[in-house]
Amino acid sequence: MNLVVLTGAGISAESGISTFRAADGLWENHRIEDVASPEGFMRDPALVHHFYNLRRAQLHEVVPNKAHQALAALERAWRGRGAFLLVTQNVDDLHERAGSRALRHMHGELRRLLCTACGETGPWHDDAGVDTPCPDCGAEAMRPDIVWFGEIPHHMDEIMEALGQADLFCAIGTSGVVYPAAGFAAQARRNGRNCVLYEINPTPTGGRYFDHVIAAPASEGVPELLCRLGVGADS
Ligand code: APR
Repeated sequence: MNLVVLTGAGISAESGISTFRAADGLWENHRIEDVASPEGFMRDPALVHHFYNLRRAQLHEVVPNKAHQALAALERAWRGRGAFLLVTQNVDDLHERAGSRALRHMHGELRRLLCTACGETGPWHDDAGVDTPCPDCGAEAMRPDIVWFGEIPHHMDEIMEALGQADLFCAIGTSGVVYPAAGFAAQARRNGRNCVLYEINPTPTGGRYFDHVIAAPASEGVPELLCRLGVGADS
């Protein structure tokens, strides 16, 4: 029984990190295209660095919630049952801090920087700016290691392979409007394995591929999923 879980901003909402598509259409008071596109970065790199410095600093103030913990327990309990892969669109580090290991950050990570001169990426826990030198080549050409609009998400080959082998798929806390992640449910549905699909969202997306919808916040919905899969949350 191979399981693929996809998470989005909703799973971190109860830890105090805002989702992207708030009612005002802004992300922490910025237009998304200003702070999440290569063009926005070219226009004003200092503003974009400052924006992500604030997001990175916020990681000191937040902790994983019950949903992150339950997913880490699910991964442990799944050993011996089949393959497990957790794919997150989130750039926070709450899944790994909760203990998840088979984890892929398809949209990058706040706690990493990418050098636009040499292409190296590496861990980064402090503020960064336009004059931050690359630890590898020394060029002052660092940017957040975040996948912006128009860029190719990370780990796509591995994710597509896992979706092709999935018997169970669960989307948690994602609005399902940003591709390619928005197409993962369809991909799993079409893999020829009679994959069973779950969604957990307090405001379900209405996605037509989901067999089971748990209309609840992730902190309640993920423990409920574990019950339905016969897995104890204390695994
Ligand atoms: N538990 C579960 N889901 C929740 C909760 C909660 N407590 N609170 C809100 N949600 C749901 C909302 O109903 C919504 O469907 O989380 C979803 C958040 O949607 P978005 O803000 O669009 O976040 P996401 O789907 O992760 O965005 C995808 O868009 O801007 C880009 O790269 C960015 O990774 C991001 C991508």
